[in-house]
Amino acid sequence: MSGDRIPFLDLVTVHRELEGELISVFKTALDTAGFIGGPMVQEFELDFAEFCESRFCVGMASGTDALRLALIAAGVRPGDTVVTVPLTFIATTEAISQAGARPDFVDIDERTYTMDPEKLRSYLKSECVRSPQTDRVVSKRTGGPVTAVIPVHLYGQMADMDPILDLATQYNLIVVEDACQAHGAEYLSRRKGRWCKAGSMGRAAAFSFYPGKNLGACGEAGAVTTDDEPLARRCQMLRDHGQSRKYVHDIEGYNGRLDAIQAGVLRVKLRHLAKWNDQRQERARCYDELLAGTEKTVVPPHVPSWSRPVYHLYVVRVGDREGFQEDLAAAGIGTGIHYPIPLHLAKAYEGLGFRRGDFPVAEQAASQVLSLPMFPGFSLEQQERVVTCVVESTKATGQRIQVPKPTRRQIVPAYGETVEL
Ligand SMILES: Cc1ncc(COP(=O)(O)O)c(C=O)c1O
Repeated sequence: MSGDRIPFLDLVTVHRELEGELISVFKTALDTAGFIGGPMVQEFELDFAEFCESRFCVGMASGTDALRLALIAAGVRPGDTVVTVPLTFIATTEAISQAGARPDFVDIDERTYTMDPEKLRSYLKSECVRSPQTDRVVSKRTGGPVTAVIPVHLYGQMADMDPILDLATQYNLIVVEDACQAHGAEYLSRRKGRWCKAGSMGRAAAFSFYPGKNLGACGEAGAVTTDDEPLARRCQMLRDHGQSRKYVHDIEGYNGRLDAIQAGVLRVKLRHLAKWNDQRQERARCYDELLAGTEKTVVPPHVPSWSRPVYHLYVVRVGDREGFQEDLAAAGIGTGIHYPIPLHLAKAYEGLGFRRGDFPVAEQAASQVLSLPMFPGFSLEQQERVVTCVVESTKATGQRIQVPKPTRRQIVPAYGETVEL
């Protein structure tokens, strides 16, 4: 092995650089005993809402709580069906189940790995029927009304939101963005005629501040963003035992509050987020360039013209993934797989009755995706070592891989430019 180990993610250096500021957050909390709620939480909520170009932010104990409580606050009820994608972290579907609803899936786009709006369209058209009583669509599979859809902004890239939002309007669906991996990602909305931030497009959005995220706490934390004031108010009550005032419980809620120390930590780190996202984008550009000669064996991430991703992960697709991982591990380079088992095939969801072959695009992606090191502070020199090792591995063992075909292109008159759909 030449040189030091290159971790998949380095969370030590970044916190060392901010140590003084982070310790003073802890000191403020000790001096004021303001551990739950209070100014640290409120100030972070204001700052994060502004960052997301959203009217409200409600801090939560985790991204999972944020998703679950956003769904409930938005009106998802027990017995409903909520549609999402199979290639995501299980928290997306856990939140659906824990809101009392049943998860259902549509397949992903083979190049962006996010929800394929055409698959959503055909699901709503062919796999659902409209109920004359409620004017809702009912899933033929689950028998429940389909009330919400969760597009997941996977790896830091937003889903193709315009057609998803159009379908949601047409079929009366609530859209909750799973923005847990996409702090600061942007989407060029042809509908709105401008770039929109993750967390500002759906009825509500959920963020995770798990330590490894682009904006990570020093523990567990999450948040809901929304422009809908009553929804924000319901989230505030749901996270705090349904209280409208102390010991006045208008509804039964949960304990899903954002810890004040974590809010203070997040507020310090939020000031650095744009810079860190720039560093990730710069590293991604270099990966793209350095990997340019390996197209037949390593497929880099695809970024449509409507997307500005923040590279929570830099994910390539390879034929012989095990071989690559072994070669990189032998050179002291950490990698990850996000995610090896698409959720419809997870043991936890055996009862839903899905089979291999139901979502072939997600299944194939799950067997080929490989996440390379990516974090703020990841140096060009480290990156060159990673790519050298990838290139050597492709020469030794690299299997040719079918490169997914370009997606449809359409001229959007408002911009006079060609936009990939
Ligand atoms: C796509 C996605 N959804 C939801 C979550 C859940 O967030 P948390 O771990 O903060 O509960 C995560 C975090 O890992 C995630 O990556």
